[in-house]
Amino acid sequence: MRTARWAMEVFVTRRIPAAGLRALSEAGGCTVQQWDSNEPVPRAELLAGVAGKQGLLCLLSDRIDKEVLDAAGSGLKVISTMSVGFDHLALHEIKKRGIRVGYTPDVLTDATAELSVALLLATCRRLPESVEEVKNGGWTTWKPLWMCGYGLSDSIVGILGLGRIGQAVARRLKPFGVKKFLYAGSHPKPEIAAEFQAEFVPITRLAEESDFIVVTCALTPETQGICNKDFFCRMKKNSVFINTSRGAVVNQEDLYNALVNGQIAAAGLDVTTPEPLPTDHPLLSLKNCAYREPKCNPCLLKKGLGSTIHHRRTFSLQTSRMEGIWGSAYRGCSAFVE
Ligand code: DGY
Repeated sequence: MRTARWAMEVFVTRRIPAAGLRALSEAGGCTVQQWDSNEPVPRAELLAGVAGKQGLLCLLSDRIDKEVLDAAGSGLKVISTMSVGFDHLALHEIKKRGIRVGYTPDVLTDATAELSVALLLATCRRLPESVEEVKNGGWTTWKPLWMCGYGLSDSIVGILGLGRIGQAVARRLKPFGVKKFLYAGSHPKPEIAAEFQAEFVPITRLAEESDFIVVTCALTPETQGICNKDFFCRMKKNSVFINTSRGAVVNQEDLYNALVNGQIAAAGLDVTTPEPLPTDHPLLSLKNCAYREPKCNPCLLKKGLGSTIHHRRTFSLQTSRMEGIWGSAYRGCSAFVE
């Protein structure tokens, strides 16, 4: 029998699969109020919805800051985010108030790693441009130097952030014949790196020596804007840059300049700031630029698709997972942000 201790009011900031809501109420006997839409909750609705609640289930598109916490009041005990990243949560403020936080590590590791590899291959082998050339009649005959890209065989791959996703990317890229893996991050991880014989290097060396750079680090104050002018200037002219972490890790103006000036060969972006980019954003013009001058740099942009696999979406809301993100925060388990 449920005790009153578990009865709590929860605000859910988006339409989520029914299994998730069911799991939520079964897990904690919660009364749920929901922003029942596929679109993000407007700020005013978020502030009103969270008022007086004990629980908040949010998404990475919801900025949970002091204003939201103040609006919720002192009764708020738990915040669970249906995301791997939690850079949208003002953790300092949250911790000050003794609110517990749950998130969903691991759920998207495979999906994001697969997408990173897909984006890398599509970018370095210029797949979108090539498809477009077939469609628009640009492909007239076989030409030895036309649409050349860069291959992984015998290459050096640099991974910025050898966490769960970074490791899963390395595991998938290894069979392509990568000669060497480098990685950079806050500290060396010798036991993990041993699987790929990956070498821990300063970020400057990662930039200078890698043929492919895959960014999979978390967005923190330390990594914000870390891929900047200096970073791109150090990269090889024939190198390819892939970002599937967070847009804010990259200084986009510097990336644009690096692409336009031929400092790097190409970029594949799963994430940008903002998302989506305005349709007149300079980065979006680079595809046309590449069509006009085949040696120019293609910039392949995707829209935060790292986690878009149907069964992952469902899984992340199955009872066990909901127990994970909800129970972690309220009862304590591994998916708890310390
Ligand atoms: C996450 O959960 O943090 C992912 O970035 C979603 O795509």
